[in-house]
Amino acid sequence: MKKFIILTSGAEHLAKNLQKLSAKTDSEVITLAKNKDNSRIFPDGEIYARIPGINKLENKKVTVVHSGMPNPNDGLAELELAIQILKNTKAKIEVFFAYFPYGMQDAAFEAGEANAAEELIKKFTDYYGIKKIYVLDPHFGKRSWQNKYPIINISAVPLLVKKAKKDFGSDILFLSCDKGGKRRTGISGTEKKRLDSFKVEFLSHNIDFKGKNIAVVDDIIETGGTLLKFYKLAKDSGAKNVIALITHGVLPEGIKKIKKEF
Ligand code: R5P
Repeated sequence: MKKFIILTSGAEHLAKNLQKLSAKTDSEVITLAKNKDNSRIFPDGEIYARIPGINKLENKKVTVVHSGMPNPNDGLAELELAIQILKNTKAKIEVFFAYFPYGMQDAAFEAGEANAAEELIKKFTDYYGIKKIYVLDPHFGKRSWQNKYPIINISAVPLLVKKAKKDFGSDILFLSCDKGGKRRTGISGTEKKRLDSFKVEFLSHNIDFKGKNIAVVDDIIETGGTLLKFYKLAKDSGAKNVIALITHGVLPEGIKKIKKEF
């Protein structure tokens, strides 16, 4: 049976590649239509979403592909509108997150906070009736709560490790930079303490960096603070080279900060 793939605006850059695959996979790729101003946003800031050709999706299997970047809040409003439209057609909905929005708020770290990531997943499954949620290297990967939901983790780490070995040789020590990374990937490494959104501190360690090629594996460069601090720690401890394997979130502000230092 023909499948349909709907791309929200944050995932539209994937359209060409998915279209190339569509004959092989018997699927049709659909992007969201704009409003009468040729825009996805009304003058008051509200988001507009329309799925063209909606009637043919009735009772069909539809995968919505979404990226929470670069606009996590507007993106979520657009995603929910698209899913609501699909829910009304009784389509069988799956969502594929290339970048899960609010993924780092994956626990109530302090009293009075919400586990925003879990609450979002709960809304998708319980209210919108979504049957499967695919997530690329979610920050909440292997947190125990995720077992309650139909979440399928997909990881780019094996591909990145293969590419690093091809480009830099097999003599590389792969390390996670924090406990979360170790939990998600199984790769051990350093531990860090986050002081605020921009500053982190690494805890004492007994890793032998001397003369080694180090590859640090992380899910995201947000402000660039973690990577820069890790680089300094590794170099100060005698590392020969440091490379970074970042699975899916490489944000412009972080890259700018890193480039400034080199
Ligand atoms: C933290 O838990 C994440 O896995 C990343 O290490 C972190 O978010 C990177 O952010 P930044 O570039 O702002 O240090």
